[in-house]
Amino acid sequence: MKAKPDTHTTLYVVGNINVDLIMSTLYEWPKKGTEAMLESSSLRPGGSAGNCALALAALESPYRLVANQGNDQFTGWLASLFPESAPYWPTYDCETSLTFGVTHPDHERTFFSNQGHIVRLSMQDVLAQVPEMAQPGDWVLLCGTWLCTTLYAEYPQLLATLKQRGYRIAVDSGWPPEDWSDALREQANKWLKYCDALLLNEVETLGFANAKTLESAAKNLLEQMADNAFCVAKCGPDGARLWAKDLTLYQQAEPVEVVDTIGAGDSFNAGFLSALIYGLPPATALQWGVRVAGCAISSSPRQYPDWQSLFGLVEKI
Ligand SMILES: Nc1ncnc2c1ncn2[C@@H]1O[C@H](COP(=O)(O)OP(=O)(O)OP(=O)(O)O)[C@@H](O)[C@H]1O
Ligand SMILES: [Mg+2]
Repeated sequence: MKAKPDTHTTLYVVGNINVDLIMSTLYEWPKKGTEAMLESSSLRPGGSAGNCALALAALESPYRLVANQGNDQFTGWLASLFPESAPYWPTYDCETSLTFGVTHPDHERTFFSNQGHIVRLSMQDVLAQVPEMAQPGDWVLLCGTWLCTTLYAEYPQLLATLKQRGYRIAVDSGWPPEDWSDALREQANKWLKYCDALLLNEVETLGFANAKTLESAAKNLLEQMADNAFCVAKCGPDGARLWAKDLTLYQQAEPVEVVDTIGAGDSFNAGFLSALIYGLPPATALQWGVRVAGCAISSSPRQYPDWQSLFGLVEKI
């Protein structure tokens, strides 16, 4: 078996890790004060940063999950799943962030979340876990932007500092719970200029740029981003698109039987950024993103491709 290519680069994933408890299937919304018995439940780590880190661990990519933690019965369990990162997480005297979700027969889901530790993650917590000087080629991914409310308020300074330290910066903000507004765009533009990659889905891309087509959205966003930046739109069953200066790429999704789309975008981010930290080109990164996401959403229990099969794609090119 071939050895994994050497790299001295690391991907730092910054954001929300929480407990997800998903129960299936709720056919009818229960009456207040009653108990509904559902067929199955699944308890797992979640959150954008958590989902991405699970995929990175399976790919054996060099990564660190930069986060914080609460102080209850779930704390040790979450930490035990990320043994290389968790010793650096600061503990807050609060509940672990937890999402309880129910799935409906049409595959829609309803979620309930507490606040917990993720709203307390601060810039100081992050900067203490990220080396003061980046290795050439290191990336930081910021995700769960709108849920990490304390950190979000510090984004302009956080991104500026990470840039000063020499990191390339990717952001997957997700959809803002209060919807896009001009005021929010004005805030986001303050950090967009530090951003080397935006990894959003279609509606998020359109909303962020306030545009009608993905092409015009990407062009508008790229103009405000760092030099040589990528704007990536994740398009569900249609795969993913990438725009950079003088470059447009499309990678179709592999046809898969979907069993659970939770964290599709986060799994994509793991594949996409893994390719970049190995110094591979954006076309390969798109392929890796689509492959990792396709594998994750079509398996139960969840599976990811191994690095050998991803590097196999490189050889085919
Ligand atoms: N039905 C599908 N069939 C095949 N691939 C899919 C499907 N849905 C998602 N994917 C893959 O997962 C990637 C990310 O999914 P999507 O575009 O839904 O991102 P997202 O909305 O950010 O996801 P998330 O809900 O995790 O935030 C897509 O680019 C595609 O490669
Ligand atoms: Mg997403």
